[in-house]
Amino acid sequence: MVRIAVLASGSGTNTERLIEHFAEHPAGRVVLVGCDQPDAGVLERAWRLHVPGYLFNGRQLREGSVLRELRSQRIDLIVLAGFMRLVPAEVVRAFPERIVNIHPALLPKFGGKGMYGRRVHEAVIAAGEQESGITIHLVNERYDEGRIVHQASCPVLANDTPEALAERIHALEHEHYPEVVSNLIEGMRK
Ligand code: GAR
Repeated sequence: MVRIAVLASGSGTNTERLIEHFAEHPAGRVVLVGCDQPDAGVLERAWRLHVPGYLFNGRQLREGSVLRELRSQRIDLIVLAGFMRLVPAEVVRAFPERIVNIHPALLPKFGGKGMYGRRVHEAVIAAGEQESGITIHLVNERYDEGRIVHQASCPVLANDTPEALAERIHALEHEHYPEVVSNLIEGMRK
């Protein structure tokens, strides 16, 4: 059984879909939800779905406590779902090709430091793009630059607001992320 830790900073809708998807899965289970924001909705969702929540701060992430926790929980795969911090190099090295992220745009466009959540959708609309989407990629030591494993697109409509676009993107994320993580797990078992 592949033991999955989800790291998130916000509402946690993707985290909820992942927990549900893997609840009965033969090959993987979400066993930990790590979060760096004490008020984040994701902690409440984890609690409701009976998955242990683990709250930490930026210093604990940088200074190794989070890595120790992941190791002590025997985590095999880290899934970022709206996690807003850079994953430290030490963690990336400890989980080679075992950290995956979802980004709410079609990378390599609209990625990098500071590009998250609503800001991404604002930038896509401001640039006059006719298409946006999601990118699921492995995580390396730089924001949004690891190898892309899956992309899916959706239209940007005339007069779209960041909220309307975010809703379309979220639907796409919920549809694709659990499935793509399942496929990664299948690959890990070979
Ligand atoms: C998602 O849209 C995810 O792609 C984005 O944060 C949102 C979290 O939503 N991630 C980033 O912007 C990372 N750069 P959720 O809390 O409802 O799952």
